[in-house]
Amino acid sequence: MKISFAEPALPDKGAVVVLVADGRKLSPAARELDKKTGGAVARAIKASRFEGKKGQFLELVAPAGTGLDRALLAGVNKEFGELAQQALGGNAVGKLLVSGSAAVTVIVDTGAKDLVEAAANVGLGARLASYRFDRYRTTEEKADKPTLKAVTIGVAGAAKARRAYGPMDKVADGVFFTRDLVSEPGNVIYPETLAKEAKTLEKLGVKVEIFDVKKMEKLGMRALLGVGQGSAHESRMVVMQWEGAAKSKKPVAFVGKGVTFDSGGISIKPGPGMEEMKWDMGGAGTVVGLMKALAGRKARVNAVGLVGLVENMPDGKAQRPGDIVKTMSGQTIEIHNTDAEGRLVLADVLWYCQDRFKPQCMIDLATLTGAIIISLGHEHAGLFANNDTLAETITAAGLATGEKVWRMPLDDAYDKKLKSDAADMKNIGGRDAGSITAAQLLQRFVDKTPWAHLDIAGVAWSKEAKPTAPKGATGFGVRLLDRLVADNYEK
Ligand code: BES
Ligand code: MN
Ligand code: ZN
Repeated sequence: MKISFAEPALPDKGAVVVLVADGRKLSPAARELDKKTGGAVARAIKASRFEGKKGQFLELVAPAGTGLDRALLAGVNKEFGELAQQALGGNAVGKLLVSGSAAVTVIVDTGAKDLVEAAANVGLGARLASYRFDRYRTTEEKADKPTLKAVTIGVAGAAKARRAYGPMDKVADGVFFTRDLVSEPGNVIYPETLAKEAKTLEKLGVKVEIFDVKKMEKLGMRALLGVGQGSAHESRMVVMQWEGAAKSKKPVAFVGKGVTFDSGGISIKPGPGMEEMKWDMGGAGTVVGLMKALAGRKARVNAVGLVGLVENMPDGKAQRPGDIVKTMSGQTIEIHNTDAEGRLVLADVLWYCQDRFKPQCMIDLATLTGAIIISLGHEHAGLFANNDTLAETITAAGLATGEKVWRMPLDDAYDKKLKSDAADMKNIGGRDAGSITAAQLLQRFVDKTPWAHLDIAGVAWSKEAKPTAPKGATGFGVRLLDRLVADNYEK
């Protein structure tokens, strides 16, 4: 979708979106449209229950005297903040994508103090909502095919709005990359191919290293390798480095769980719903997309992104329940359930990351537990942290971007549940507090580094469309962590 900015003016073809404030108060553009149509806007409002409330739309098809396909009146009320602005752009695209119109002009001339910033946000929302994953459809009803190709935001000070939108567009590129990676099926995206996709970030100036099995064996990453040993696809680890600040500055580190398919392994999952486990590389997908966003907008930060890539399959060579593996850290883990594999992958990657980079903070993302969906549903990601400041800044970035997180506890009492009779720990802590015991295991592989863990099992994909995300892969975390970096680590 092409997003552009122009000085505000009613177009004479395609579609237009004009704003109406709470109490049916017409914006300047809405008033002009009303005049041009001989009062059709006022008549339509009067004949409907449209009040100009946030999120409300009223459509006028082929209004006389305009040449337009359609005009949408869009409600904005006093709380027309950043997220509402994005939702407006997203909803407009949602309504028009398959409408028959090829272009739309959204005129942002009321509702916010800073209209330039508002216009940029409308653009971001529009772009995010235009995402489609349809490369595998060979037959599609004509009525389902997108027609909308271009969105113009009309705003006084268009050049400024264009400049404000520039970095947002790069963040959207990152979100789209994540959505693509997460949407791709397991026969297309497996460790080797996901690593190859990460490698494409080199053209943005990201340094990308790919570790194969031999290299990881040398490092002693037996926990990660144990998970992948039953798969026909070899495991990989990818290390991405973006250097946007002075070399002497310690990096911010991001670590992602990349289980390209999670069958459960020998502790195999039930059949129904197993297809969803292609999304189990969502954490890695987010880290790769985030690195694309940071490099794309040339963030003034040093950032590293590490992803552990494995496929968890049952096989004659697969890891067994009862097996004991030695992690890179030297700690040993007794496997009680091969389906609790994400923590095994992260144990080695987290350790490697802090050992090599000594980061100023380290944040991991993982579709780690079904239990977090029981706790928080699909509204918040679970946040675990060993550092209050880090937890607070992540929470704030979540509220600002609409990618919300909710903090969960860490405590020695939970940690005790990991006690094993045969090794330093077992990989599960029983049914109770499953997300917390999983986080406790991760914490055993983090030293004093300020660290946070985001359990994104409930938010990495969505069964319903949202204003700025069609159903499917959401790209959750890219915008949140991009914002965290912008607000806290680029100063
Ligand atoms: N990838 C799953 C977690 C998951 C489940 C994500 C459902 C999204 C939806 C993870 O590897 C897993 O299987 N976790 C187990 C842990 C259990 C065996 C202790 C779980 O949550 O059931
Ligand atoms: Mn699993
Ligand atoms: Zn998993």
